[in-house]
Parts: sequence; structure tokens; C-alpha cells
Amino acid sequence: MTLRNVLIALSAGVMLAAGYAVLGASEGQAHGDVTPQAVDVTGLDPLGPEWRTDNPYGGNKRALEVGSSGYNQNCARCHGLQVISGGIAPDLRYLEKGKIGDEWFMTRIRGGAKKQDGTTIMPAFEGFLPQEAMWSIRTYVESLHQD
Ligand code: HEC
Repeated sequence: MTLRNVLIALSAGVMLAAGYAVLGASEGQAHGDVTPQAVDVTGLDPLGPEWRTDNPYGGNKRALEVGSSGYNQNCARCHGLQVISGGIAPDLRYLEKGKIGDEWFMTRIRGGAKKQDGTTIMPAFEGFLPQEAMWSIRTYVESLHQD
């Protein structure tokens, strides 16, 4: 083999590997396993490592902004734009207001949801989104609450 042929063989191998990586990624997406999008939480009071049980940002303007963008990037594709569900996931406008709603919201956003057979129907966001982002999304969702 000439050096040139070796280089061609090598780059073909690299391209093959890249192809597999792309295939692998799109296969993951087909299973609803999309990587959560980072949410910029600058301007919010940091909450520390302890998980809060009720929303520390209720009515906070910056939390509303952060939550609106965080929701659109991470939740809208299932729960619907402007929190109006198209039917594939529950309509979060009807989630209870206040502490009871807060607790259920955090249970779901942190842990996600699986079907009985173990298939993921909602990804877990714990470890991807900080609680500052989660509570901001809660603030946004609650601002659109319907009875
Ligand atoms: C891949 C689709 C998908 C994504 C993305 C998703 N969810 Fe869900 N979510 C679901 C499904 C499906 C359920 C219903 C689970 C069940 O039946 O137990 C659910 C349930 C919930 C519930 C409980 C609602 C209820 O009435 O019991 C909350 C709260 C929730 N999701 C919040 C969120 C938030 C916030 C985000 C974004 C950070 C998000 N979800 C992203 C699919 C999704």
C-alpha cells in the first residue's frame, strides 16, 4: 500500500465511524430520547443543592422569561406550544396551582415517566436541568393555568 492509499483507507474508516455516530444519534431521537437543551438561568437567585418543595420564584419576572424559553426548548414538542397540548401528553395548564401542583410537577420533571413495560414516555430532566431552570418552567406553566 502506498502512503496515499493508507490515508484514503483511514479517512474512509473515519467517515464510516462518523456515519454510525449520526445513525446512532437519529435512532436515539426516534425513541424520544432527545438531549435536553441547556437553559440560561443568569439573573435568578441561585437555590443551592437542596431540592425545594414549593416554587421559590412564584411571580418572578425573570423566572417567567427563563421558563418560557426553557419550556419551548424542552417540553413544547410533547406538551404543546404555549402549554396547549395537542393530545400526545397531558395539558399542563390544568396542573393544580400552588404546593400540590409544585410537588407533582417536580416529581415528573425530575424523574420523567415510563410505561409499565419500561418504555420512556417522558425523559427525566434531573442531572440535565438545574432546579433553577425547573422552577422557572413551573412559573411559566403556572402563569397559564386554567381551571
Ligand atoms: C417526549 C415527550 C415529553 C417531553 C419532552 C416532556 N414530557 Fe412531560 N409528559 C409526557 C407524557 C407522555 C406524560 C404523561 C405521563 C403519564 O401518563 O404518567 C407527561 C407528564 C408530565 C407531567 C404530569 C402531568 C399530569 O397531569 O399528571 C408534568 C408536570 C410534565 N409532564 C412536565 C413536563 C415538563 C416541564 C417538560 C419539559 C421540561 C416535559 N414534561 C417534557 C411527555 C413528555
